[in-house]
Amino acid sequence: MPDFLELSEVSAKDLRLIIDDARKVKIERNGKTRGLLDAGTPLADHVVALIFEKNSTRTRLSFDVGVRQMGGQSIVLASTDLQRSRGETIKDTAQVLSRYVDLIMIRTFADKVIREMAEHASVPVINGLTDYSHPCQIMADVMTFEEKAGPIKGKTVVWVGTGNNVCNSFLHAAGQFGFNFVFCGPEGFDPDQKAVSFATSGGGAFVIDRNPFNCVSAADMIVTDAWISMHEEAGGNDKQKLHAYQVNQKLLSHARPDVLFMHCMPAHREEEVTSEVLDGPNSVILDEVENRLHVQKSIMKWCLGLL
Ligand code: CP
Ligand code: NVA
Repeated sequence: MPDFLELSEVSAKDLRLIIDDARKVKIERNGKTRGLLDAGTPLADHVVALIFEKNSTRTRLSFDVGVRQMGGQSIVLASTDLQRSRGETIKDTAQVLSRYVDLIMIRTFADKVIREMAEHASVPVINGLTDYSHPCQIMADVMTFEEKAGPIKGKTVVWVGTGNNVCNSFLHAAGQFGFNFVFCGPEGFDPDQKAVSFATSGGGAFVIDRNPFNCVSAADMIVTDAWISMHEEAGGNDKQKLHAYQVNQKLLSHARPDVLFMHCMPAHREEEVTSEVLDGPNSVILDEVENRLHVQKSIMKWCLGLL
């Protein structure tokens, strides 16, 4: 059964299947209470391990609630809960977990941890964020974009800020869903070159433009993220260099009035984005939050051969 490790490694057809299923189930559940079981309880008789080696609010809640809605059972584990924190190898951890659970979701640091986990687990592994990428988030973001503005193919996403893990997964998504991607950040903060190479594989363009006011005029969507991710430490004058890339109302006034604004959250208000924008009419951050739940349920079903 397949792992869900990077958006660049799942076929575009399967990514579309996942989003279509998520939209369908979301509509079926509309207005129902959060604890209501999904029709057919697709995860009945399944146990899912949710491992968090970094902090999380959205990923933790959305995966756990998602498993419950599908009639499955979840076990949430912090890194300190596992012998891994005392040196047990990833290989042994993966093999042991595979004797108890049907699916593993892990949020961790280095990409190689996920790779090793997937190599040695006999059950599917889902990437719940690494230092390199955050594929589940971007599936929710593509779903959110399409709910609000129709097919994303051929549209223009402008990333303002640092080329981090969320940005890398956006580049993978650009390649798979065929949208244009503009990276707008200071020199020294560009995204991973391999992810950049993948971005144009679906027919969309990739552009680096260091002038935010130029970039946003063509944007269907503007997206940003924390300047300092969980695995990073701020360099001496990083924030000073990034200050010109804050998403604020002045920047938005150079964009189309119906431009969508996204942020995976947690947001650092008045740093990478102002409250005025986060809480303003272009912002769809809470739809992104909700769609994490819907799309990850479909990702879990896909991993288990249930789609
Ligand atoms: N966006 C996101 O992954 O949020 P958490 O870190 O709260 O899980
Ligand atoms: N880039 C951020 C995303 C958090 C969901 C981080 O890795 O901390």
